[in-house]
Amino acid sequence: MTVESVQPVPPRAAEPIEPPLARGGVPGLGHGWKLVRDPLGFLARLRDEGDVVRLALGPKTVYAVTSPALTGALALSPDYKIDGPLWESLESLLGKEGVATANGPRHRRQRRIIQPAFRLDAIPAYGPVMEEEAADFAARMASGEPFDCTSESFRVAVRIAARCLLRGEYMDERAERLCVALATVFRGMYRRMVIPAGPLYRLPLPANRRFDRALADLHALVDEIIAERRASGRKPDDLLTALLEAEDDKGDPIGEQEIHDQVVAILTPGSETVASTVMWLLQVLTAHPEHADRVCAEVGSVVGDRPVAFADVRKLSHTNNVVVEAMRLRPAVWILTRRAVTETELGGYRIPAGADIVYSPYAVQRDPRSYERNLEFDPDRWLPERVKDVPKYAMSPFSVGNRKCPSDHFSMAQLTLVTAAVARRWRLEQVSGSNDTTRVGITLRPHRLLVRATPR
Ligand code: HEM
Repeated sequence: MTVESVQPVPPRAAEPIEPPLARGGVPGLGHGWKLVRDPLGFLARLRDEGDVVRLALGPKTVYAVTSPALTGALALSPDYKIDGPLWESLESLLGKEGVATANGPRHRRQRRIIQPAFRLDAIPAYGPVMEEEAADFAARMASGEPFDCTSESFRVAVRIAARCLLRGEYMDERAERLCVALATVFRGMYRRMVIPAGPLYRLPLPANRRFDRALADLHALVDEIIAERRASGRKPDDLLTALLEAEDDKGDPIGEQEIHDQVVAILTPGSETVASTVMWLLQVLTAHPEHADRVCAEVGSVVGDRPVAFADVRKLSHTNNVVVEAMRLRPAVWILTRRAVTETELGGYRIPAGADIVYSPYAVQRDPRSYERNLEFDPDRWLPERVKDVPKYAMSPFSVGNRKCPSDHFSMAQLTLVTAAVARRWRLEQVSGSNDTTRVGITLRPHRLLVRATPR
């Protein structure tokens, strides 16, 4: 062999390695009991064990991703899809044909249909409804009685989503029914996910009956809304018209079931997430009066004596920072899951095909490696001169990539307006019976927030 014939061997990329197994598993149960007992603390502590960690959940291995960079890589990679136990139980209750659970070409087609309703330039048209609902929400605090933040936050979220995206005169009465149905459905759905005791939920117990009635009413309401719009012959430029006129890949109208499931798949994530965030914003106004005062002063300087309007939102920078900081510490969507479609690699770790992956925006957004004084409520960390210190993907409450929430601008506008309208008018304090500790459900929210409003 001549010297010339020796080919240089290219340096081999290191073989992906198996992620470490998280500590503290119990034989038979693995880490499941820890996840059920203290899901937020458990997921947050995993960051000390590695960027990717294996969990044993019963007989199953689940991969937990803990670093901001890798959660971003995961959300952006085509190697993962929406699937897994969380989504399966959502599908069985809410329908299989909506955008939130679809994958591949169907998902891309559905996103194309709904996207125009959420585009930045579509949002100003919703301004008058958002302004009116934010002002009415603040006005409902005037009774002097303790204000039940749970039901009222649900009410404002459902009313804004229903009135903006589905329109129609009928929405007042329907929005109230939707509120009741969705609140009950979400409570029951979380229970069914955490304790998958199938046959028990079919027993004729009062809680099961309430859940079944609420779920049936939710589906009936959606059918009524669709039927009524069709019967009216009206085609306003809104999301419901876009869904009714949508075509599949062959150019045929999409089926009735898909239209129904799409409406459900938009209304359900749209109400619970916003409602939970509104509750945290009210909690923040009680717990941080100095920021409530700053919001009030900012709104006053922008709007003077008139009510706050949609057009003011972009000038309310401190109010916006309060909303963002509240979402950092209490992100409504606190856990997300994916499934690997193929054997792949994440941050040098091997992920087998079919593996279930889990990550927690709550854990990532509280990581002391990303945030100084990580647990402190500090809206000023979002000032332009400080925001550059926040690592990429360390703050993604709406996620990134092809499953990113379509409603980020829509949500931020309404959350900012509601916060501004309340803080401008009222000083809030919690009253006896209020419990603002974190309740873990499909979203995170305070257990039972009751406030009293006194005029400023
Ligand atoms: C504070 C408010 C909100 C937050 C924090 C939030 C958060 C999220 C997150 C994190 C996802 C991605 C889920 C994943 O990656 O698996 C998502 C998806 C989604 N959100 Fe939101 N959301 C909010 C409000 C809304 C509203 C108001 C609507 C509709 C009216 C909405 C509709 C949707 C839909 C349809 C999806 C599924 C998108 C897809 O899979 O392509 N969300 N949301």
